[in-house]
Amino acid sequence: MAGETILKVNNLKTSFATKAGRVQAVRGISFEVRKGEVLGIVGESGSGKSVASLSILRVLPDNATLSADSIDFGGQDLARLPKKEFRKIRGARISMIFQDPMTSLNPLMTAGRQVEESLLEHCPQMGRQAARRKVLELFGRVRMPDAESRYRAYPHELSGGMRQRVMIAMALSCDPELLIADEPTTALDVTIQGQILLLLKELRGAADLSVIFITHDLGVVAGICDRVLVMYGGLVMEEGLTGELFSRPAHPYTLGLLASVPRLDQPKDKRLRPIAGSPPDMLAPPAGCPFFPRCEWARNVCIDGRPECARLSPTHKSMCWLLQPDAPGEGNPFRKAGGAYAG
Ligand SMILES: Nc1ncnc2c1ncn2[C@@H]1O[C@H](COP(=O)(O)OP(=O)(O)OP(=O)(O)O)[C@@H](O)[C@H]1O
Ligand SMILES: [Mg+2]
Repeated sequence: MAGETILKVNNLKTSFATKAGRVQAVRGISFEVRKGEVLGIVGESGSGKSVASLSILRVLPDNATLSADSIDFGGQDLARLPKKEFRKIRGARISMIFQDPMTSLNPLMTAGRQVEESLLEHCPQMGRQAARRKVLELFGRVRMPDAESRYRAYPHELSGGMRQRVMIAMALSCDPELLIADEPTTALDVTIQGQILLLLKELRGAADLSVIFITHDLGVVAGICDRVLVMYGGLVMEEGLTGELFSRPAHPYTLGLLASVPRLDQPKDKRLRPIAGSPPDMLAPPAGCPFFPRCEWARNVCIDGRPECARLSPTHKSMCWLLQPDAPGEGNPFRKAGGAYAG
């Protein structure tokens, strides 16, 4: 596979202690991010996408417990790195942008000043003058219209799209190797969404930046991601190149997600079918495949245990019993339905 690996997550588990019990948000996920790629993480609400990324950055609330065999980032294990060392990485070599910039921006400080402050925090030797120049340069890179006057604007004086550009400028200020973008466009209208996506695409091309792009929208995945992880119930159900996932979905959950998004290559009048049923209770997730209660092809074996991942290509794998050649049960109706690889 092309590209050097910059992040390798190995068996990450994160849970939260609550009054009702332990919420098992992420239950053992493993994946890699390669240099210069955009890796999408997609799944319905509650599937563990945000918790997975917050775990990598170790910005979890006090009631959280994280464990991992390793989270390798450039030879350092992020799961075991002392807090002080981690501070040098977070916001500098790995940075993050969120859905709603308003909650992350300080309303009392001008846009330019905020980017400047975050820059100086990580590079104090830089000096005010140089930092200011760098901020204006960053505003240019994120295509901020009229950068000079936006530098002096307060967050409430900016549109949603401009605020997100400020956040992206801040995230890029220390030339990160990895940018984690958690639903960065969902709060924006469609045209602005498109502009921000285009910007992220341009940026990663120009800077050799790797991006983890979190979204529940498969349409967005198709436009920006090279590879995709499909998460459900705190687990990775399927992983593959974006093209593989769209042309040969290999998990009934992915098939369900695909049937519930509008696609340009399908007739307009084709009805969209949301997946029936609701996500599992993460206080007591099923022992087997978490999707079995909603899966039309589920068998007894799916209830009892999780299958190994089936490899469908060097880049494509799926955690589904129906792809296990020796799984108990007659025939393979999922394959007949056009979901997985034929034969
Ligand atoms: N601080 C917390 N305490 C308890 N449970 C939590 C906490 N944060 C998240 N969870 C739970 O962890 C699970 C995964 O949440 P997460 O926010 O990762 O979902 P998500 O896939 O990002 O969903 P969305 O698309 O809605 O953002 C959910 O069941 C959620 O309720
Ligand atoms: Mg989320």
